[in-house]
Amino acid sequence: MSYDIQQIHDLRFRRFLSRTEIADRIVAIGKEVSADYQGKQPVIISILNGSFIFAADLLRTLTIDPFITFVKLSSYQGIQTTGLVSTVLGLDCSLKNKDVILLEDILDTGKTLYEFAHQLQQEHQPASLKIATLFYKPDAVQYPIQADYIGFSIPNIFVVGYGLDYNGFGRSLPDLYVLAEE
Ligand code: IMP
Ligand code: MG
Repeated sequence: MSYDIQQIHDLRFRRFLSRTEIADRIVAIGKEVSADYQGKQPVIISILNGSFIFAADLLRTLTIDPFITFVKLSSYQGIQTTGLVSTVLGLDCSLKNKDVILLEDILDTGKTLYEFAHQLQQEHQPASLKIATLFYKPDAVQYPIQADYIGFSIPNIFVVGYGLDYNGFGRSLPDLYVLAEE
């Protein structure tokens, strides 16, 4: 599917970033990560559901061979954050003395990453912890959390595609779409 306008449920979205722009940026992030972790085997934790496409694309640009695992966290319903972060699927490996990179699709209020990163630091004592997010909404952030690798800073508008959903749909769109003004 590749139309300029997409209807999902009751809302209309327009194309905002193309798959090529996203792919180019991911290659650049992959170079940075590979250089920073040269000679190391970091544990990459991809935060489901949204980051699975970013994870799949980023991992295949790396020249290092990381350990990869997944957690499933949830905070959104529709286009609103509920303000509560729940762990739907937890960690299945030890992070003690490991270099950890959290992969997130989008940093919005920052609540998900803030809560999860703090929980990891306290319960697992990793050697280091960095955050990579593909999209970042600087005007939405409400928690003191900073990403070490950022794909794109975007306006504070709801987006779908490239892994991100609106009530479960839109994730498979290869490009990124933004909520259209009516
Ligand atoms: P935060 O905890 O408010 O930073 O929100 C993080 C999570 O909310 C992300 O991992 C996404 O799953 C979801 N989210 C935030 N903004 C958007 C958006 O614009 N579109 C789709 N999902 C979003
Ligand atoms: Mg997410």
